[in-house]
Amino acid sequence: MKEKQIWQLIDRMTIEQKLGQMSVCEYGDLMKGGDNVYTGPKGEFALTEEQKKIVGGVLNFKDASAMIALQKKHLEEDPNKIPLLFMLDVIHGYKTTFPIPLAIGCSFDTDLAERCARAAAVESAVSGVQVTYSPMADLCRDARWGRVMEGFGEDPHLCAEMSAAFVNGYQRNADKNYEIASCIKHFACYGAAEAGRDYNCVDMSSYTMDEYYMPGYKAGVNAGAAMVMTAFNSLNGTPCTANTMLRDKLRTEWGFNGVVISDYNSVAELVNHGCARDLREAAKLAIAAECDMEMVSTTYLQEGAALVESGEISMEQIDRAVFRILSLKNRLGLFENPYAAADVQAEKRFCRCAGFLSLARKASTDSCVLLKNDGILPLKKRNGIALIGPFADSKEIIGAWSCNADPAHAVTIREAFCEENIEFEYARGCGDSLEESDRRGFSEAIAAAKRCETVVLCIGESMRYSGECRSRTEICLPPLQTELFEKIYETNPNVVVVLFQGRPLHIRALLKSRAVFTMWQPGAEGGHACADLLFGKSNFSGKLAMSLPHSVGQLPLYYNHYETGRPFDPNNAGAWTSKYIDAPNEPLFPFGYGLSYSKFVFSDAKITACGVKKENKMRVSVRVRNESDIDGSEVVQLYVRDVAATMVRPVRELKKFKKICLSAHTETVVEFMIGPKDLGFVHSDGSFYAEPGEFQVLIGGDPRGLLRLDLIYKEDKMRYNISRIAMREMAEPYVEAQNEQQRIL
Ligand code: GLC
Repeated sequence: MKEKQIWQLIDRMTIEQKLGQMSVCEYGDLMKGGDNVYTGPKGEFALTEEQKKIVGGVLNFKDASAMIALQKKHLEEDPNKIPLLFMLDVIHGYKTTFPIPLAIGCSFDTDLAERCARAAAVESAVSGVQVTYSPMADLCRDARWGRVMEGFGEDPHLCAEMSAAFVNGYQRNADKNYEIASCIKHFACYGAAEAGRDYNCVDMSSYTMDEYYMPGYKAGVNAGAAMVMTAFNSLNGTPCTANTMLRDKLRTEWGFNGVVISDYNSVAELVNHGCARDLREAAKLAIAAECDMEMVSTTYLQEGAALVESGEISMEQIDRAVFRILSLKNRLGLFENPYAAADVQAEKRFCRCAGFLSLARKASTDSCVLLKNDGILPLKKRNGIALIGPFADSKEIIGAWSCNADPAHAVTIREAFCEENIEFEYARGCGDSLEESDRRGFSEAIAAAKRCETVVLCIGESMRYSGECRSRTEICLPPLQTELFEKIYETNPNVVVVLFQGRPLHIRALLKSRAVFTMWQPGAEGGHACADLLFGKSNFSGKLAMSLPHSVGQLPLYYNHYETGRPFDPNNAGAWTSKYIDAPNEPLFPFGYGLSYSKFVFSDAKITACGVKKENKMRVSVRVRNESDIDGSEVVQLYVRDVAATMVRPVRELKKFKKICLSAHTETVVEFMIGPKDLGFVHSDGSFYAEPGEFQVLIGGDPRGLLRLDLIYKEDKMRYNISRIAMREMAEPYVEAQNEQQRIL
């Protein structure tokens, strides 16, 4: 349909029909029967039968046949025959579940991320999905917040790269039939909810917002995301759903002209926030802020006509929203083919096809992070193993927000061991809940540990405790699992701990094990991936996308912090410096950290000017050698530090990363181009530029030991001094922190 035809259609619509297009309801509100899932509290309003015929979109439906049935019914009833938009939370896969986004972030592999999103888009498209409410681009620094599992961690650059990769995966396919629209969420700064309490208020300076929280959303918008979802929280005093940032930042500054949709019921919840005295005012504020679609609450339909009648809202404001919505439907080809790619046969062919399952298996191995290994891994023998713990045979490893996937399809560790003909004994040991107190399984587990040479202990936090509305004040393992660990370790110290978690947990007690790695929530192929890693068929290559804290008291915790005027001095613990007296400042394991079976050595870091005048580019290169007998992948990370600027700057900021594969005993030179845009920041007047002065460029694969190059940036060109100074080699952060803690205490 041409643009003018869209306007002609709008001109034919009544105000009621226009407001209908601006309304999104649950599938279950329109189609009786069927076990529809609801993803939030239902608003107090219900749609009238007439209103149901004119809504613009639905969310939460089961499959292609459900979509086809409703679209057919709707087209018979809608006076303008405008197709419904079918939307769903495809967060980490549709029927084939990939690792949770936090895990994918730990892969540091944007190509892998894009491929996973593209596979999810294919499965979704043939199942009738046109829009996914993904990726979540919220920066995550506080592990008390249950939704950190949906984000890409604490670094703005990684978050931006991953958000863009997901948008590209959803929206770009050689066969357009298999593209779905991406909805970036939650705009904005939802991850900074105070105290990690979900839906809580957010208050921050524009400096922090621009430096840390905005890059993820902006990258998604720049990648062409078709939709943006508002966040539940208030931001600097105004709830996001009615915040002028939607217009000033998103639309005017960034040039986003797509559809903005509220989050679930969040228009009506403006009344709860206390910034709208009633639902009529809530509708007025949200429409005025250019929130085009209202999800689930029905204030637009109930109050919109009166607002236009009274002149509080103009018809132009309504028409502009409807134009964006119809343009999205037009872009998706719905006017020509309202059923898009929905196809019951294709659904059977594509969903959980071998190719997608094998991709899920790779994504899972590549997003696991090896935290400790004294050499016990990879396991040399495929017998004499005690497989113990509540996650050893749990389908729950599929992860939270697993959409329409069937957890029964998840391959557990135990099932994978059976398939691989591993000789093992299995004992669950205990349940997985936080309140678990039933120790009856301990004896069987201890007996198995006694009989076997090696223990693989699968413990962690159930997916029931992460995701939306799952904030915790503690981030400990369930106490009974810690008790089980101690008993098993006492019986047999040859323990490999496999962690399952949707958020960073404090795991100090586990570090006496011989090896520890996290699989996060690994998705449908977690069992196969675990076996691949344990027995060396695959090698670890993941790096932490979120710092692992010593304790919940350190939160919010992030590596790219400011130095303060009294930086902690590990050699002078008693000094008047910024520290805790009962815990270290450092994380237990830092952002960017992760071990491998290979041994990568970095050397020969250097900077060469490239004289590319207009961007003042410079080439930073470093030699990487795999000194081991095992092929592996390494994430080469490049950070910068602005040593002195007119604003305080982070102690280091990730600006580039590249995942490389290196065969045993081979080496390569990795190069990055950097320029002023990698050295600059947003100034108080909103302008972005690099200030002349001294910078450090830090490069390596392990944040505990980076190579440092010093650089002097002059206004019009970059000169540089090169001094290779190995950063203070930090001992095992855990051991050092423990020693320091003893010193302090
Ligand atoms: C939920 C979530 C949002 C999701 C939406 C639809 O409340 O906040 O991320 O996309 O509702 O399920």
